[in-house]
Order: sequence, then structure tokens, then C-alpha cells
Amino acid sequence: MKKNLIWIIIALGVFAACSSEKTKTTKWKSYSGDPVVEHKVDSVLSLMTLEEKIGQMNQYSGNFAATGEVSDNKSGEYLKKGMIGSTFNVFGADHLRMLQKQNLKYSRLKIPMLFAADVIHGLETTFPIPLAEACSWDLDLMEKTARVAAEEATASGVAWNFAPMIDIARDPRWGRVMEGAGEDVYYGSLVARARVRGFQGINDYKDLTKNNTMMACVKHFVAYGAAQAGRDYNTVDISDRTLHETYLPPFKAAVDEGVASFMTAFNDLNGVPCTANKYIFTDILRDTWGFGGMVVTDYTAIMELIDHGIAKDLKQGAELSLNAGVDMDMISEAFVTHLKELVDEGKIKESQIDVAVSRILEMKFLLGLFDDPFRYFNADRERNVINNPQHKKLAHTAAQKSIVLLKNHNSILPLEKAKAKRVAVIGPFVDERESLNGEWAIKGDRSKSVTLREGLEAKYAGTKVKLTYAQGITLPLIDRSTAHVSTVNVPDKNGFSEAIRIASQSDVIIAALGENFHWSGEAASRSDITLPGNQRELLKELKKTGKPIVLVLFNGRPLDLSWEDENVDAIVEAWYPGLMSGTAVADVLAGDYNPSGKLVMTFPRNVGQIPIYYNSKNTGRPFNEERPADYRSSYIDVENTPLYPFGHGLSYTQFIYSSPSISSSSLTKGESIIASVEVSNTGFFDGEEVVQLYIRDRKASVSRPVKELKGFQKITLKAGESVKVDIEITEEMISLYDINNNWVAEAGEFDVWIASSSSDESNHLTFELK
Ligand code: NOJ
Repeated sequence: MKKNLIWIIIALGVFAACSSEKTKTTKWKSYSGDPVVEHKVDSVLSLMTLEEKIGQMNQYSGNFAATGEVSDNKSGEYLKKGMIGSTFNVFGADHLRMLQKQNLKYSRLKIPMLFAADVIHGLETTFPIPLAEACSWDLDLMEKTARVAAEEATASGVAWNFAPMIDIARDPRWGRVMEGAGEDVYYGSLVARARVRGFQGINDYKDLTKNNTMMACVKHFVAYGAAQAGRDYNTVDISDRTLHETYLPPFKAAVDEGVASFMTAFNDLNGVPCTANKYIFTDILRDTWGFGGMVVTDYTAIMELIDHGIAKDLKQGAELSLNAGVDMDMISEAFVTHLKELVDEGKIKESQIDVAVSRILEMKFLLGLFDDPFRYFNADRERNVINNPQHKKLAHTAAQKSIVLLKNHNSILPLEKAKAKRVAVIGPFVDERESLNGEWAIKGDRSKSVTLREGLEAKYAGTKVKLTYAQGITLPLIDRSTAHVSTVNVPDKNGFSEAIRIASQSDVIIAALGENFHWSGEAASRSDITLPGNQRELLKELKKTGKPIVLVLFNGRPLDLSWEDENVDAIVEAWYPGLMSGTAVADVLAGDYNPSGKLVMTFPRNVGQIPIYYNSKNTGRPFNEERPADYRSSYIDVENTPLYPFGHGLSYTQFIYSSPSISSSSLTKGESIIASVEVSNTGFFDGEEVVQLYIRDRKASVSRPVKELKGFQKITLKAGESVKVDIEITEEMISLYDINNNWVAEAGEFDVWIASSSSDESNHLTFELK
């Protein structure tokens, strides 16, 4: 019945829109470019009052009454006026059906509400944190996990995802590094594309009409990762060049992939808070890139313009933010409270509101919500999709592929099942379950994730390996509401003696240490990135036993592991692997899965080296061995090199690279050349390797990085097998943001390395662009 009413309204509108140009209420560049959709949008818009339009630009988190009538807080009040366009972080087919019913009851034109959520690394099936998953260098995998996240989220009623987070992150003090794909622009852009494809379907707006695809929202626009000193929300002051070279490209890639929405960043950019930044949202995003989708603010970001010191009140915040190009206000109630007044006073034009509302309505049409506002709310589908065993299987694969073997002295790993060994498993992560999903596991049931002990028990049951366990130390916790230095490092040595006792009776120690999951994520910056609490103290005690130590880490950021690297035998970076944590880590420890992850963020030697990233510029006084050490760009107390470079990750087998070759030493504009290398697996395990291609532009109109990743291939080789790897080099790959602020390839000479990590320079080639 309601559906029919909506269609009558739309049909009348479309008819009117088609029969008279006058009814085309607004000029806006649509996302779909589909005139039929545009006419539908215009027809609905032409029937709306100003208040109804403004209501569409208003978004709440899901705090209104879950059952029965709406409560009498502000969201309830606006719901009753039909003035909520979207609600987020609400889930469940039945629950959202009820909320949609309430919305339609009050919306005069029966405009459906759009439900959103932060489905960052899976809904109920929790995949590894995004930083970890990015270490797989497996774009297909990342697209698949995003697809499953979308399957589950849409089955739970949610059609708009506040993901992927694609901020380039070069500062491990910043807790939100766990949400992204690390430090590299080229790789980060590819991951952004893969995740957008996964959430939205393939690269076609029509896919959004399927009931298992959802709008993606790339965030946070822009340069949020450049927060000074890694302190969350802090000032960002970077050059326009750095903005264009480093922070914008993943967002541009997402636009090219067809992403439907953007979220503003909390930070200011060179003095102008992003949520009121016309340069980035209008000049760059809309006018230069031609983006037609919608823009939502981050949480209360309009309100925060007052604290930023650029708006005297919420009203001015609303004005600034609408003028910058924002369409929807998350939580601040700035638009819903002040836009009408601003129109009446002539400070903004109704046509600006029309444009924003058109973008919002278009998305509702593309998602099929006008066809059927209840299309995402099928409780049977929800039950079947969310319990699909295939999802668990994928979570297992993703967890395996995310793990990075940082060190493996004397090939102490794997711990073969056939060899009799007494293994002491020690540390707060032996039985830790809650942290394994990491931050932003929005609906992942933390009680379901497999612990390390459970994984090991299942793996070694009935084998000659004898496992003993001790916690050694309780995991240092953090109270987010009162987080200070004094509350985070609680000294605790109570469990040391038991830990030392079982360690002394073992052949090998597995030390399972890390950060509680609250130590990374939003508002979880650290100034000290060593293992928190007394964990290093525990390791020191274990070291005194003289037994070999395998350190297994569960954490959400690169850590300072300098002491650990010198003092333990092997280091396995497991990150937060999600639902199948213990199983995947046990697979790696036992050699049932040969680790293949490679770092996507540099591990510094100490916090003082930060920011440290592989693709830095050379400086006029670079430090290298051929030159005298003094008056060079270096530290007097630590090396320039990182502890573990970008692209680093070991395997249980050995990969040997042959001398590389290049199809031509000159690249002609518009054509491409091929760099090749033969890679052989000379070890005893089958394995996977990420063959990386780095390029350096020797001389250009502006200084260029010492090298930049420009290609890679993940290959699988059986023991004894070899394969030729070809990587294409195109003109586009060497284009740069030149002295005149244009993206061009400049003629000149280029170095190429085909390498197993960013610090591997053994395979060098050159070519010239004529
Ligand atoms: C604030 C976070 O910065 C953003 O990433 C998230 O999407 C919103 N909160 C909504 O939860």
C-alpha cells in the first residue's frame, strides 16, 4: 500500500519532470549520470517543503527507542516531523524494519530512511584489522572480505558503510593506523579500490540496487593521518604538494572506482578544518574530480568548528560546512536547527540545499529504497547469511595471510609436530579472547574468537609436542575516559615465578604479548610504542632461562621492538587476526601455513625516528656509506634505517631472485616496457612471495622520493619451483606532481628495483623516458 503511494508520487513527479523543463528544480551533477534517476530525484525534490529537505540532511546514531513509539529526545522529535535522513550504527532486520516503519509513518512523502554503520573489518564474521589484512598484499582477498562484510551488513539491514578508511598513515603513534592500509600511496590506492569494489559490487552504479551491496564511504577527507605528533584529531599542517602527492591519491582512486560517498575528517588542514573546507570538497572533489556522490560529516564535526575557532556558533558552523560542500550532518543538529534560518536571512540559497538533498535522494533511489523501503529487512536472509560457514573459512584464510614473520633466527620456526618438544606458552595473550578482534569490530562477538591456547591445543592434540601455559602478567588495560600515563602502565609481576618455572622446563618458549585492543583505534594515540606494562620485563626474565624464545605479537600498530629483535629468536606479528585468531597463529607456528605477509608500515627503531617511511626524499646531505658521517642527515644516537622496513616479511622457505632484465632501456611516451625477474623457491616449503617493484626518478622539476612502490605480484611457488615475473612499467607510473602542479611524466633517467622489500637493492635496472 505504502509502496504504491510512493510510486504514485514518483510517477507523477517523473511525468511532470519529463513534460516541463521548469520542474527541473536544481542543477546538480548526479553520481549515476542516469537521466531517469535524475528525473526521479527532481520529481521528489519538487514536492518537498524546505523543512523536509533539511530533514534529509540530518543524521543520528541509533539511540531512539528500539521498540514501540519513539522516545522524546531530539531524534525522536525530528523523527516525528519526518526530518531524519539517515541513522547509523543500528542493526538487525527486524529492528530496522520497525524503525523504517516509524519513519514512514511520519514522513509525509514516505521518503525512506537510510541506515548506515561502521563495518570496518566484517560485521559478525570479524576479519583481521584492516592494517593486518593489508599485509597480505592480496587485493582479491580484501575485495572478498569486504564483499562478505557487505553481505552480512545488508542482511542486517544496513545499506551504507562508513568504510573503507583510506588515510595514509606514517605515524605509528596514531591509534587509527589499525584501520587503514599503511603508509604507501600506490598500494593504499589499490587497497582502497579493492575495498570499494567489495562493498559496492563491481564498478557500476547499478550494482547498488542489489540487496547485498552497499554504499561505501571513503574517509576521512583528508590527511587525517598526518595529525601532528600522532595525537588523534591534532592539527594537520602539510604542504599542498604533500597533500597532492601523498594524501589525496587514494581518495582519487576511490572516486575512479565509483565510490558513492565521502566522510569529512575531524582535523584542520593548513588552518581550515576539513568539515568547512571548500578547497578540498568543492574545488578538488567536486570540480576537479567530478565526484557526484554524497558527503557526510564525521561525528559532531560541524559542532567542533566552534572549538576549532572558525565558527562562533552552530549556526555559522552549518553555513560554513554547507558552503564547503557537505550534504549530511552527522549528529551535530546544525543543519536541522539552522539551515532554514540561514535561507531566510539570505546567507545560503535554497538551491544549495536542493543540491545536497538531490545527492542524498539519488543514493536512496540507487539503493532501491524508494522501490521498497523494507528490502534490506529480511530476518530469514539475515539468519542464513550471517551464519554462513564460508564466511568463517574466509576469516581463517584472511587471518593466515595477514600474519608477518618478522624474524626467524636459525629457522627456529616452524615447531614441527613430529618432533618431541616441550613448549611453554607464556603471556597475557595465551587466553586473551576479547582483544583478538581488535578495535572497530562492531558486531563481532568477542566471546567467539579462537584464543591462542585453543588454537594450539587443537593443532597439537595427539602429537609429540607437549604444551604448558602461564599468563605471566595481566594485560595492561586502559580506561579510555581517563587515559593518562599513570593509568596505563600498571606494574604487575605476580605471575613471573610460574612463568619462569614452566619456561625453565621447556625446550622453547612462545611468548604471547601485545596491546589490549583499546590501545589502538580512535583516540588511542601513544607516545611510547614499546610493549606496554611489564611485558618486556617478563621477556627479560624468560631470556635468563637460556631457552629460545618465539615472540607472538597481538597489536594494532607498528611497535618499537628494538630490544625484542636483539634478544628473542623469532617474532611473529599476528596483529589482531579476528574470529579465527588462535587457529591461524597455530597454523603458522606449526608450519601448516607458511607465512607470507609483508609489512605495509615501517617499524621504527625507536619513537624518535617517527615519522619514518621508506619513500622519503633524499635531502641535500643524504647519509650513505661513501660519504663522511658528519654534517649528514642522520642521528647521533640511532641509525637512519628502520628496524623492519616497508615490504619486509619472511617465509619458511627461501626465494632467490635472478638478475632482472628490462624489455627496453627506453620508454616512449604512451607506451610501456616490462621489467622481469625469475624467482625460485630454493627451500623446503611451498610458499608465497610478494615481488615488489620500486622506481626512483633520478632528476625532476621537484625532489622525488628515494624510491616508490609502483608494482607488485604475489606469487605462489612449490618447493623447487621457479617462475618468471613480469611487471609492466607505464608512463602513468612515473608521473609526478610537477613544479607547475600538474601530474605529468618528465623525461629523464629512472632506477628500478625488483625486490623482496623496500630495503632490498640487489636487483637494479635503469631506463630512460624520452
Ligand atoms: C567517528 C569516526 O571518526 C568515524 O570514522 C566513524 O565513522 C564515526 N565516528 C561514526 O561512528
